[in-house]
Amino acid sequence: MVTCMIRLNGVALRYDAAVPARNSATASARNSATISARHGATVSARNSATMPAGSGDRAAAAFRVRDTSGGSPDGGSQDVLRDISFEVAQGGFRWLLGPSGAGKSSLLRLLHLAARPRGGAMEVLGVDVTKARRAALPALRQRIGMVFQDFRLIAHLSAFDNVALPQRLAGRPETQLRADVAELLRWVGLEGKGDVLPQSLSGGEQQRVAIARAVINRPALLLADEPTGNLDDVQAQRLMRLLTEMNRHGTTVIVATHNDALVARHKAPALRLEHGRLVGDG
Ligand SMILES: Nc1ncnc2c1ncn2[C@@H]1O[C@H](COP(=O)(O)OP(=O)(O)OP(=O)(O)O)[C@@H](O)[C@H]1O
Ligand SMILES: [Mg+2]
Repeated sequence: MVTCMIRLNGVALRYDAAVPARNSATASARNSATISARHGATVSARNSATMPAGSGDRAAAAFRVRDTSGGSPDGGSQDVLRDISFEVAQGGFRWLLGPSGAGKSSLLRLLHLAARPRGGAMEVLGVDVTKARRAALPALRQRIGMVFQDFRLIAHLSAFDNVALPQRLAGRPETQLRADVAELLRWVGLEGKGDVLPQSLSGGEQQRVAIARAVINRPALLLADEPTGNLDDVQAQRLMRLLTEMNRHGTTVIVATHNDALVARHKAPALRLEHGRLVGDG
């Protein structure tokens, strides 16, 4: 029995696995697990379990997008996405699928409030971002964790400082955040690499720093763009367990991926994009 525990924003998520994390991914995928929160209910989960879908409840939407276009990478008028409409309830999970160039990263850019939607309406956590004042967006953005496809680590900050950044921005005292950051770095297999600059880390190691930075504040919304692109199968499985745990504790999760094996193993509804249009939802 191996116990993994990570503390995210004051809540301890404990994961008891009968099969050591380094065993074969197939074996660990079959393995059932118990997730317990120090301050919350204990829930049982099966790694391969179907993840909860959004209910479409009007009051509880994490994302509500209606006839929205946009997503231009340079803020220009060239729309990447056209007439997109969908809704994800708070606590929902969606895969985001589609061929290369379909617009997955562009849609995540919109949902992360890094690009302005054009036309239609877009609500994030109940805030209509098409109408919101620009000054209101940073606070909303702090509730969103993002794993970028190209990592976007800050080059002059160590792995530790990259992961600590969201906590420092949120004003968490240094004495409190140090243990959590160290624990999360250990959990993603980067114990002893906290002082290393991104340029001296492998692609997979940088991706794991990016993942740790995205989840450290236990965000209400987590957007992950190809988060397993540089991970081996065992690491990808570990990441999926973390995302599943966070999802079960209420975080809304959207994961863009080309990893068909992962999608097959973790049944959940999918948003499907082709040529900038949404061609599937469910
Ligand atoms: N920086 C950029 N400048 C100009 N066009 C861009 C830029 N980034 C993306 N695009 C264009 O926007 C469209 C959608 O790209 P996007 O990155 O959203 O696709 P994707 O589905 O994430 O692809 P992938 O699976 O390869 O990551 C593509 O036609 C692409 O060429
Ligand atoms: Mg992309």
